[in-house]
Amino acid sequence: MNSTINPWASSDQSVDIERLYTEFGIERMETAITNLPDVPYFMKRGIVFGHRDYQRIANAIAQHEPFHILTGFMPSGHPHLGHLMVMKEVVWHVQQGGNGYICIADREAHAVRNLSWDQCQTYGNEYLACLFALGYEGETYQQSQNRVVQDLAFEASSRANFSELSAIYGFTPETDIGHAMSVLTQVSDILYPQVDDEPAPTIVPVGLDQDPHIRLTRGIAHKLRMFTIEDRDTHISIRSKDAPVEAMDAVQKAFKGSKRYEGHIDVTGVSHEIVSRTVRAIERAHGGYGFVTPSATFHRFIPGLTGGKMSSSVPESIIGFYEDDKAVTKKIMAALTGGRMTLQEQKELGGEADKCPVYQLNLFHMVADDAELAEIHRKCTAGELMCGQCKKEAASRVIAFLAEFREKMAVASDMLARKSC
Ligand code: TRP
Ligand code: SF4
Repeated sequence: MNSTINPWASSDQSVDIERLYTEFGIERMETAITNLPDVPYFMKRGIVFGHRDYQRIANAIAQHEPFHILTGFMPSGHPHLGHLMVMKEVVWHVQQGGNGYICIADREAHAVRNLSWDQCQTYGNEYLACLFALGYEGETYQQSQNRVVQDLAFEASSRANFSELSAIYGFTPETDIGHAMSVLTQVSDILYPQVDDEPAPTIVPVGLDQDPHIRLTRGIAHKLRMFTIEDRDTHISIRSKDAPVEAMDAVQKAFKGSKRYEGHIDVTGVSHEIVSRTVRAIERAHGGYGFVTPSATFHRFIPGLTGGKMSSSVPESIIGFYEDDKAVTKKIMAALTGGRMTLQEQKELGGEADKCPVYQLNLFHMVADDAELAEIHRKCTAGELMCGQCKKEAASRVIAFLAEFREKMAVASDMLARKSC
C-alpha cells in the first residue's frame, strides 16, 4: 500500500487507524486531554481521534494562556452535514479562549477544482453563515484577498523544494504549479494567526486527508525560525540556524553568565519556558517570525447515507442545510444501515450500530445526551430496535435540527450581506 495520504483524492480513504499511530506519528487523543477542564463530546465519542502536539493547546486552555484556532474551507460546493464537525470544533475552541481564524480557500478551489471566483464567493459566504449560526466569533478571510497570507506563502516557498513536495504529495513533473502554490498558501494560512497577532500555539482541526499539509507546515515553521532551543542535562543550548549576529548578541546579553560559542549560546539556571519566550521575542525584534510549531487534531468523517464519504458528487449521500423535510426524510429512509437481511434475523442477531450511517448521524450530531445514545446502541444491537423505526426517529431529529439551524443561518447571512456592502 502506498504510504502517502493524498489530500485531493475524492474517494473514501479508509486508512488503518493503528498504522497512523505507528507509522505517521499521529498520537491518540487520550494522550493529550487529561488536563482539559472540559472534554467535548466529539473527543469523548472518538470522532476526534488523533492529534499532533495537542498538549500545547490543552495546556493553554487549562492555564488561560493565548492560543489560536484556525481552519480552512474549500468553497467548491454548498456546505452540508459533512462539514459540521469541524465547524463545531472551531466554535468550541473559541469558547475555550482561542482566537478564531477562518480561511476560505478560494485560491485552492480555483486552482485545484477550477471554480470561478464568483462561485467561490457564493459558496464561501454559505460556509461563513454556517459558522456564525453556530456561534463563531473571530476573523474570516479569503485567500485571494489576504495580502499578508500571500506574502507569507512566498516566504514559505523558499523553504520547500520540489522533491519534498513530490515525496509528500506524489507530485510529478507534470503537476501544475498552481497545485504547489495552493499548498504553500495553505502553509501560510496555518501560520497566519501568528503573524497577524502574535506567536502562540495554534490548533488546526482537520480531517486526516489534510495531514500532509500539517506535516509540511510544521517543518516550514521550524525552518523559518532563527534559533533552535535544545535541552541538555546541565544547561539549555540556544543554536543559531541563520540568526544575524545582532540577534546572537541580544541573546547573549539577555542571559547573564551565558557562554557564547561559534554557533550557539549555552544558558544555565533558567527554565526552558523563559528561555524560549525570551529567544522568541529577540527573534521577532530582529525581523524573524518566532513561530510556535502548529498543532492539529484529526477527526473521522461522518459516513455518507449511502456508505462511503458524504460527498456533493453523490447527492444521496449528503444532507444539505437547505434541503426540505420531505427530501431529508426520503434520503434517511433510503439510507444504508447496519440492519440485517430480515426482521427475524435482526431480532435474533441485533443490528450493527457501529457500522450504521444512521447511528453515526446520531452519534456525530443528533443525540447530545450520552445515555440516550447508549440506549439506542443497546436496543439496536440487542435486536429490540428495528431500522424503520430508528430511521424515522433520526429523520425527525434531523428535521428539527435543520429548522433551527436555517433560522440562525438566515440571520448570519443578513449580517454578512450588510458587512460586505
Ligand atoms: N485544503 C483544505 C481543504 O481541502 C482547505 C484549507 C485551506 C485549509 N487552508 C487551510 C484547512 C488551512 C486547514 C487549514 O478542505
Ligand atoms: Fe442502524 Fe438503527 Fe438499524 Fe441499528 S436499528 S442498524 S442503528 S438504523
